[in-house]
Amino acid sequence: MSAEIRFAHLSDWHATTLAGGGPALLCGKRISGWASWGLNRRRHHDPEILAAAIRDVQAQGVERILVTGDLTHVSLESEFLAAAKQLEALGSPERVFLVPGNHDCYVSTPAEVSWDHWAGYLSGDALSTFDADLTASLCAAPGAGLAPRYEDYPMLRIVDRLATIGLCSSIPTPIFRAGGALGAEQLDRLERILGLLGKRGLCRVVMIHHPVAAKGEPVRRALWDGDALRGVLSRVGAELVLHGHKHRRRINRVPGPIGEVPIIGVPSTSEVGSQPEKPAQYHIYSVRAPTGTGLFELSAEIRGYDASRAEFRRVAGALL
Ligand SMILES: [Fe+2]
Repeated sequence: MSAEIRFAHLSDWHATTLAGGGPALLCGKRISGWASWGLNRRRHHDPEILAAAIRDVQAQGVERILVTGDLTHVSLESEFLAAAKQLEALGSPERVFLVPGNHDCYVSTPAEVSWDHWAGYLSGDALSTFDADLTASLCAAPGAGLAPRYEDYPMLRIVDRLATIGLCSSIPTPIFRAGGALGAEQLDRLERILGLLGKRGLCRVVMIHHPVAAKGEPVRRALWDGDALRGVLSRVGAELVLHGHKHRRRINRVPGPIGEVPIIGVPSTSEVGSQPEKPAQYHIYSVRAPTGTGLFELSAEIRGYDASRAEFRRVAGALL
């Protein structure tokens, strides 16, 4: 593999507006989301901060950009279209890999007015790029032009020796619930895929919107089959798990078959900074090929928004 692969992780930028959303806002759970946005959320996310982050990501020269969802508030088509432009500013579908968040699945919507607008960013590599075992372990034919559906996950992309596995934990939930679930079939496919990728010596990076750690999330916002996901990780392992949803940086570890699996949550990309525990940040990871230990060497850099200069800068860095 290349001596080093670098990739960025962004999440939860919610940099869309519900102003002018019209009658579509008067639909079920969207009414509460609209009220929440008007009373509170609209003041917490700034598209200008997202734009600064996009400029900074481009200046860092990363090979890949991973995004763990929640680009919208209530899944309006106008939000999907606005976020599609933000994704285009971030990079091409070949470089940017996205998994949906719960706000991107706020209510049940037809694909043609929602995820299809992000199709290239959500889709994995075409099945023809994989061998027979991997192809048989994946559900759908990604890359066919339309976005994957929940039941098509996991999505898989491989570049050099970096394998990114996108999970979908986002399902429409009742009012005041923001949790998620993977489901037994997605978990079963994930276990087979991680096992195959591990045997091939690839660096496995799992992307999911909801947090994976056992504690720290109220039930109404949690990954409801997190126990099962942690079980998969303990049996077949992964080199890194990335999530969003909390708008806070979180570092946890779960036992894996040959060491602990780091699980890292990234804050929102666009927070205005009114809450110190919720800064606007994103992360850059570097993966280096295995040396004597046989393990990949991973390091992380935190880049945060400096309001005084209206730009992102390095905040800290560490080996994982
Ligand atoms: Fe979320």
